[in-house]
Amino acid sequence: MSDSGIPKNFFAPRVGRITVSPSNAGAQRVRELKAEGRDIIGLTIGEPDFETPASVKEAATAAMAREETKYTNVDGTPELKAAIRAKFRRENGLAYEPDQIMVGNGGKQVIFNALMATVSAGDEIIIPAPYWVSYLDMPLLADGTPKAVVCRPEDGFKLTPAALEAAITPRTKWLVLNSPCNPTGAVYSRDELKGLAAVLLRHPHVWIISDDIYEHLLFDGVEFATLAQVEPALYSRTLTVNGVSKTYAMTGWRIGYCGGPRELVRNMAKIQSQTTTNASSISQAAAVEALNGPQDFVPQRARAFQERRDRVLELLREAPGIECFRPQGAFYIFANCGGMLGKRTPQGATLEAERDAVDYLLESGGVATVVGAAYGLSPYFRMSIAAPIGELTEACQRIRRAAAALR
Ligand SMILES: Cc1ncc(COP(=O)(O)O)c(C=O)c1O
Repeated sequence: MSDSGIPKNFFAPRVGRITVSPSNAGAQRVRELKAEGRDIIGLTIGEPDFETPASVKEAATAAMAREETKYTNVDGTPELKAAIRAKFRRENGLAYEPDQIMVGNGGKQVIFNALMATVSAGDEIIIPAPYWVSYLDMPLLADGTPKAVVCRPEDGFKLTPAALEAAITPRTKWLVLNSPCNPTGAVYSRDELKGLAAVLLRHPHVWIISDDIYEHLLFDGVEFATLAQVEPALYSRTLTVNGVSKTYAMTGWRIGYCGGPRELVRNMAKIQSQTTTNASSISQAAAVEALNGPQDFVPQRARAFQERRDRVLELLREAPGIECFRPQGAFYIFANCGGMLGKRTPQGATLEAERDAVDYLLESGGVATVVGAAYGLSPYFRMSIAAPIGELTEACQRIRRAAAALR
């Protein structure tokens, strides 16, 4: 029996296999420290600090006034599916019929549905590392075997065709691609996707999740490309996932969606019908406006993120022991902190490992970041740049001071 009186075997082994999302746990820690009166800049969470567009909020209010407050179809309202189909056609050159589209409570649930509908014990899921942490935990919930493939900084943290080829086995079920990537901000070009596609065409049993959630957060004029568009021969085994959370600053509304093979989407909807049923009816109405309404603020916000990236990279260049990767998209800086390790803090402690460095930045610098291990690569830390530029400037100055105080 444990302290609480609940026998240990009460909980299913699957719960023990997974972790609480480290960025959520980090954000919780920031809230606790702030509540204690500490001056902390929290850069742990991946959520735009901009407002949800006014027209989107108005669409939600109008939906409530129309009494659209009841269950909808499990896989999404006809209006939202139409808006999603139009988005895929307009922005990605991808044609899907309504029964190839589904809406979930965030891109997270859409990916979860896909894995739950397809993965059994022993099935392998190839995940390029550094990765978004849920890619690892979700297959574990489905009794699958995630296979992280570490991508090297000299390859721009991108999966190479040779590394993909080497990772594929007869048990491989899925490859999960994410561009722009959380946490590195790496973006795959059309040619790089073509290179991966050539490998995938030789292995017809491997299906692909293309997580395009950061599609519109691109810097330096880089163009977005997605696998099913780049290689139409892969369309019939690619699930293209997207959502409104990042592009439209709508993380709390919980709307994600996908386009993919009909049979897969039908089985995903079956899973969702036994978990959450539909996504919120009001959020769906808001998402229709997000996708169909004016888009002019989207590139403006991407430019704002680019300015923040430039400022942070410039300021952290002078932080001893820290080396930042230059992201081409998303809103994170993935920084190598290997140069801080082995050094002594002013308090006399030695920074032995990445976790010590991140704790030191929090305790001494008052800046909360997330350890690279959470994303499958050490010694690194991830900091979100989804914060006002003044706050980021202050955070970088604190990091510089803390790093410079090490001996
Ligand atoms: C790479 C990636 N995919 C998917 C998601 C899921 O976002 P949501 O569930 O809000 O659509 C996130 C959120 O952090 C993410 O970083």
